Amino acid sequence: MADHNRPAPVAAPIHDLLVHRWSPRAFDSRPVAPDVLRSLFEAARWAASSYNAQPWYFIVGTKDDPENYQRVFGCFVEFNQGWAKNAPVVALSVAGMKFPHNGEPNRHAYHDVGQAAAYLALEATARGLQIHQMAGISPDKARQTFAIPEGHETVAGIAIGYPGDAATLPEPLRQRETAPRERRAASSFVFTGGWGKTSPIVAGK
Ligand SMILES: Cc1cc2nc3c(=O)[nH]c(=O)nc-3n(C[C@H](O)[C@H](O)[C@H](O)COP(=O)(O)O)c2cc1C
Repeated sequence: MADHNRPAPVAAPIHDLLVHRWSPRAFDSRPVAPDVLRSLFEAARWAASSYNAQPWYFIVGTKDDPENYQRVFGCFVEFNQGWAKNAPVVALSVAGMKFPHNGEPNRHAYHDVGQAAAYLALEATARGLQIHQMAGISPDKARQTFAIPEGHETVAGIAIGYPGDAATLPEPLRQRETAPRERRAASSFVFTGGWGKTSPIVAGK
């Protein structure tokens, strides 16, 4: 059986869940049970947010409801549709850009939607699923399709499901699916004392 694990080659010990989260493009056709999906969005619900404004919204489509699946899927760009078509669940994340308590702009709306998505991703990993987020979407089409109101912005597409066999992907994607995972060194982004001054915490890492 194909190995759907792609553990991160970490430079310091981190939680197993974080090691095993990754963004597959090959998804198994196996559906995701409604109670499992419910838990993924419950995880998103418990993310932290500025003023506890909880600016996240998710518009979801599952393959057992082809019409609504297609409405979400139709907002993905062609490249992403090429691989996301096998995912049993697709979604769009949307940010409420104003604070409900005073109507002022929420400068951290995207940040907090991203946090909710990260929680969703980790809950998925804990349950043997993975998600793949997408910038490659049409926000205009999403606004039109779902009547997304003014003051709200579509942030990302999300494919959700059980990871599948990389061999099912066309060649360039297959290679990317199995290539070594890479990250910048912590020394390039953790600073102390001034911009660009690597923190001693991560020096040489
Ligand atoms: C906000 C966001 C947008 C992304 N957009 C796309 C996309 O449009 N298409 C795609 O194939 N992958 C997309 N990705 C996936 C990233 O390429 C992937 O997360 C990154 O390469 C790191 O890989 P990993 O998630 O497996 O660790 C996106 C990820 C995020 C978080």
